[in-house]
Amino acid sequence: MKFQWDVLTMKDFYTFLAIIIFTGLVSVHHRSDYWRKTWPYSFQFPGDSMNRNRFEAILWSLHLSDPKEDEENEKKWNTAEYDRLFKIKPLYTEIVNACKANFQPYRNISIDERMVQSKACMKPYNKDQPTKWGYKLFVLADVSIGYTWNFHVYVGESESPSTGRGLSYSTVMDLLPLPLLGSGYLLYTDSHYSSPALFTDLLKKNIGCCGTIRTQRIGIPKTRVNDLPKKAERGDMRWIRRGDLLFVKWMDTREVTVCSTVHKAYSGQTVQRKLKAAGVWESKSIPVPDAIVDYNRSMGGVDLSHALIGFYSVRHKTMRWYKTFFYHFVDIAVANSYLLHKELWKLRPDPTQTKTLTHKFFREQLAKEMLEFAGGLAARPPAPSPSSSSAACLPAFFESTDSQARKHCKRCTGAGLTRVKTSIYCLKCKVPLCFTSKKNCFRQWHEELS
Ligand SMILES: *[C@@H]1O[C@H](CO)[C@@H](O)[C@H](O)[C@H]1NC(C)=O
Ligand SMILES: *[C@@H]1O[C@H](CO)[C@@H](O)[C@H](O)[C@H]1NC(C)=O
Repeated sequence: MKFQWDVLTMKDFYTFLAIIIFTGLVSVHHRSDYWRKTWPYSFQFPGDSMNRNRFEAILWSLHLSDPKEDEENEKKWNTAEYDRLFKIKPLYTEIVNACKANFQPYRNISIDERMVQSKACMKPYNKDQPTKWGYKLFVLADVSIGYTWNFHVYVGESESPSTGRGLSYSTVMDLLPLPLLGSGYLLYTDSHYSSPALFTDLLKKNIGCCGTIRTQRIGIPKTRVNDLPKKAERGDMRWIRRGDLLFVKWMDTREVTVCSTVHKAYSGQTVQRKLKAAGVWESKSIPVPDAIVDYNRSMGGVDLSHALIGFYSVRHKTMRWYKTFFYHFVDIAVANSYLLHKELWKLRPDPTQTKTLTHKFFREQLAKEMLEFAGGLAARPPAPSPSSSSAACLPAFFESTDSQARKHCKRCTGAGLTRVKTSIYCLKCKVPLCFTSKKNCFRQWHEELS
């Protein structure tokens, strides 16, 4: 063991998280600089709240899963039951669930990929696999605010598509839990994911789609009647319909092909482009298909959400791949919280506040409040835990969602009333006892005992 280990308290962990967020705001060359008391460092925080060894000990011992269960999983290495993501599963699942639970997307959503930079590697499938420098996440985001609603960590080619229709089709379907998400959405995808099969199947589920598409995709009309002319000019467009699918080609600096199940081909929209006419550059309006305008606008929102996560991100160099995910999960949680802060502000504008917080100030406040919360936790005596032997005699309900979770009252039974049941027991004595406004066996039994 590299560090001496003390039991981790909630206070410690909140302080630890506040430091993690702080390190995303203030960068130094070496982590130890945060604790240096010499010029030009001398930061008050984090040194005053937690000493360096304690921080390093927590970081060093950080696991997102139970190490014993990990070992069990490692034994299954090279078998079908081996779970490559086991080391992140518990937190991964919890963060995804929280993302879904705290916000319902507006109308426009998108699927895209995010890379999590890392030099630490998961166990590769085979020795020949090139070393990866990061991990790929597939993300379902709300386009208008950039909220991360769902995501999957990609574990490699060997992942067998759940739908039998190829990885990109399955990726999208897996990110759209329809019973939870509902329908009526408009999904934007890039050419990695767009396909006639996907768009058609989603339309049947009342989800419209729009996205750039590769012209070699199966299901694209093979006819050439909608090809752009060889010497197409900027703003030239051609379109063709097949069933519910609209395919539009448009000439910008290069040819763009978009497929949509929700758009008209062209309604008269234009964009400004600098064009050279007779040797002179001039700004001109050129016609643009509706699907391309909306796609461009939506994907702009996606870039925004990448920027949001990337800017104050809390990444540290780590040799453990699962710690890379810990940092990324913190980033997702903080970025989403900030976006919700802005949405809530729209709903309930506080008259004393003229603006939402900036992302930076939000993170500063968050770290500060976490510290204050940690301080408050320290002042309070630790809450008695039901399992510990030091628990006080307190009434509690039987832990069961089953309303039948009732047991025979100890005192009534002792008095010959063998049929009286109660849903209350004593935490310490582990004895079922009546505890109602009319009948307080709980108190009487304890009094009789002493
Ligand atoms: C796409 O968006 C960018 C930035 O908002 C804009 O400059 C560009 O003209 C847009 N392109 C189209 C085709 O709308
Ligand atoms: C969805 O996107 C369309 C096209 O960009 C836009 O007109 C509409 O306002 C968006 N809807 C919401 C709820 O953001």
